[in-house]
Formats: sequence, C-alpha cells, structure tokens
Amino acid sequence: MRVKVKQIKSGGEKNAFLGKEVTVKGWIRTVRNQKTFSFVELNDGSSLTSLQIVVDQKLPNYAELISDLNTGASIAATGKIVEGVDKKQLEMHADSLEIIGKCDPETYPLQKKRHSFEFLRTIAHLRPRTNTLGAVARIRNALAYATHQFFQDRGFLYVHTPIITTSDCEGAGQLFQVTTLNVDNLPKTKEGKIDYSKDFFQKPAYLTVSGQLEGEIYASAVSDIYTFGPTFRAENSNTARHLAEFWMIEPEMAFADINDNMDNVEAYLKFVFQYVLDNCREDMLFFNKYISPGVLDTLQKIVGTPFERASYTYAVRILEKSGENFQFPIKWGMDLQSEHERYLVEKFFDKPVIITDYPKDIKAFYMKENNDGKTVAAMDVLVPKVGELVGGSQREDRLDILEEKLERQGLPKDNYWWYLELRKYGSIPHAGYGVGFERLIRFVTGMENIRDVIPFPRYPGSAEF
Ligand code: 4AD
Repeated sequence: MRVKVKQIKSGGEKNAFLGKEVTVKGWIRTVRNQKTFSFVELNDGSSLTSLQIVVDQKLPNYAELISDLNTGASIAATGKIVEGVDKKQLEMHADSLEIIGKCDPETYPLQKKRHSFEFLRTIAHLRPRTNTLGAVARIRNALAYATHQFFQDRGFLYVHTPIITTSDCEGAGQLFQVTTLNVDNLPKTKEGKIDYSKDFFQKPAYLTVSGQLEGEIYASAVSDIYTFGPTFRAENSNTARHLAEFWMIEPEMAFADINDNMDNVEAYLKFVFQYVLDNCREDMLFFNKYISPGVLDTLQKIVGTPFERASYTYAVRILEKSGENFQFPIKWGMDLQSEHERYLVEKFFDKPVIITDYPKDIKAFYMKENNDGKTVAAMDVLVPKVGELVGGSQREDRLDILEEKLERQGLPKDNYWWYLELRKYGSIPHAGYGVGFERLIRFVTGMENIRDVIPFPRYPGSAEF
C-alpha cells in the first residue's frame, strides 16, 4: 500500500508506521552514496520534509540502480519504517526500489544550490518541486479550504459567477476582451465601426474583473453568498502586488451594512490565519526561518488583537501630520498610494486597519453614498507589508441615486439594467467585499512577490505555462 511521507512523519512518538512495511512513491531530492549503501531523500510533496531511504548494496538490482538514482528521478520504494540513528526521524530501510522515471542529472534545471525566484519563474513546470514553492502550494490549499469552511459554517452559499461578462464591475476599463472575430479582418458596420453583431455574443464581451454584481443578484434571493474564482485585470502594473489573473473571494451579505461587513471580514481573516497556524506548522516554521523572519509572530498577534478602524478623512489627517516625505503628497480627495497605506498600517497603527468612508469620486459606482454627500460607505483592509488586502463596501440600494451615479461615471445604464432592477424589486441593504487571494497568501507566507504564490502567474509579457 502506498503511503504519503506526511502520514509517516506525522505519527509522533507512537508512530503507527514504525516497524511496518510500506511503499512510498515520489521524487528524489538528493542521493548520498556511502561505501555499502546509499541515502536517498524522497519527497512526494505531502510535506516539507523528505523521507530518508537507506538503499543497501545487498539489493539485487543495486548495481543497475545506482547510475539512475539521481535528483529529480521518480521512484517507488518498499521497506520497513525504522527509527533513524538520532532517533528523532523515521526512515525507511528499502527491501525493493524501482526507478519509475529517470532524470538526466546533466540537464535537470533544479540543482541542489538555492535558485532565485526569478529563475524559478522561468521553469514554472518544475518549481513546485522546490521547498518554497511546495510549501506555498500547501498553504494556498489550506487557505482555500479554510475559506470554504468559514463561509459554509456561517450558512453562506457558494455561488459560481460567470467568467465571461459584458459589464465592467469596477468601471475602471481594465478589461480583457473575449472575441471570436478574426482580429486580422474585423467585420465593419456601414459607419466603419466594428460589427459586433457578428461576434459570438453579438456584443463586446470581456473576462470578468469581479463576480460582485452577479453575487449581489444571488444575495438578493438566497441571502448570504460568496464567490471564489478567477478574475482578470488588464492593468499594466509590473509590481510585486499585481497580477493580470488572480483569485478573489467575494462574500455578499443581505440585510447588512458597512459595520456588519467590517465585522465579517475581521472574523474571516482571523479564522483563516488561525487555521494556518493550527494546521500548517511545518510550512510556517519554514517561512518564518527562511523567507520572512517574524511572520509567525505577526500572524499570532493579529489573531488576538482587534483590528483598528479609521475613516479616510482621519487617515488623511494622520498622513498630513506624519512629517514623512511621501513621493505622492497626500490631499483629501486623492486615492491612498501604497506608501500611504504602509505608513498607516506599519508605522502608525502597527496592526491591520480598516479604512472607511472614502471620497465618492475615487470609488466605484455601486458603493452607497453617505449622508454627507461627499463620501461612500467603502472599506479597505490594510495589512503590514502587503498594504490593501481587501476592498469592499455597503452597496447603493436606492435606484435613483444609483442611476445618477452611473451617469456621473459615464457608464451606460443599458448595460446594467438587470443590476438596476434589483433596486426596483425588493431592494435590500447589503454589503460585501473582495479578498485578493494571492495577496492573502503573500501576507501569510511573507513571500516578497505575488508571482510566486500563484502556480502560473500572468503579468505583462508572461503567459508561458
Ligand atoms: O478593491 P477591488 O478592486 O474590489 C472589487 O473588485 C470589489 N468588486 C470587491 C467586492 O466588493 N466584492 O479588489 C478586491 C481585492 C483587492 O483588495 C486586492 O486584494 C485584490 O482584490 N486585487 C488584486 N490582486 C492581485 N492583482 C491585482 N491586479 C489585483 N487587483 C485587486
């Protein structure tokens, strides 16, 4: 029976596998040849640590094996699990070993030395075999699982919103177009414009930037929902925080206001952090030691401390009085830049902070206008190192004001007719937010670059794998 290395390693002192004969399968990390035997480190991705296999010369096929026992080769080994010399680690004494797939050590790109993350991006088909990318994959999986658990436990329905859309949720024009028209020979109308009646959807269509608008439809029918899917933004930002394709978690709550929204996001983030602390100890110790010293403490501290909540207007006052020499001097009405967010969260508050009530002119059309006529019930959650992790708001539920806002932002009312009708037929106060999943992983692991926390990053000039 094949068992995973994690099962063998996680048994503690009274290990269920000790003295038992099992089969393991995986890839060789390293081989050390001694006089009468070889040590083979086998990793199957189930845990950070590998299993040491002692391969004795007495194995009948040892002579043939030895030249193929190379880093990167896939093998199956069967043998008894025993205590290692130091009694701390379990190891296997192989009774049989089979090479499943050979690996040419001369050309295999993953050498024992440390590779840069930039280099590893060029071999995205092999990089999950490294310690760091393997650990990221397990943390990513744990965060996805914890996300579903959090919302499911609270009665939220998981709704699948479309990937192809004809409306721009954020109104920011950062859309990738989807078409079946021949772009080398576009059909034209009499007026010389592109004739979209010949296109697949008979109108311009795009990859979605957010599932929110459709999420609101379901929240207006089945109460609390969440989406968790890929979103796409054609913003040309070559930064460590932006991807062209990223995953977003978007809960939408019926009969809820901005305070419910803040309470929910704080509970959500603390829940998933605690989940990782409880269930991903080995990988988190690795990140804490090699990638981002202190990251464990940070998470631990956050889980036990209330988030700060501050209005945009107050935040601007703090920034104006900070005496910092910002590259973009701050003024009321401006969007907060990354440097401002980081000052607030890292220097001033020194804990996650939820900034609310932003000027209406810098926020999306769907956000609920406050009584002051100047601000909207928006909220951004800022965390150390990452800056903005979550964006959300209470939604505008008044038809006339929403129509006015669409017009003011130059968005065609016709495209949003169904969204407007939600305000006509049984409108409700509702609120929601979007968590950038990769920013969440980046925060939890302390990884520097967002491109290294998604298996196959898409950014300007890159869609190879
Ligand atoms: O603040 P954003 O644009 O909000 C929305 O899309 C809303 N529709 C969400 C909602 O209320 N349902 O994006 C939400 C989050 C950001 O806070 C950020 O973490 C992440 O999505 N994000 C990105 N992550 C990676 N690459 C990008 N280009 C991102 N743009 C936004």
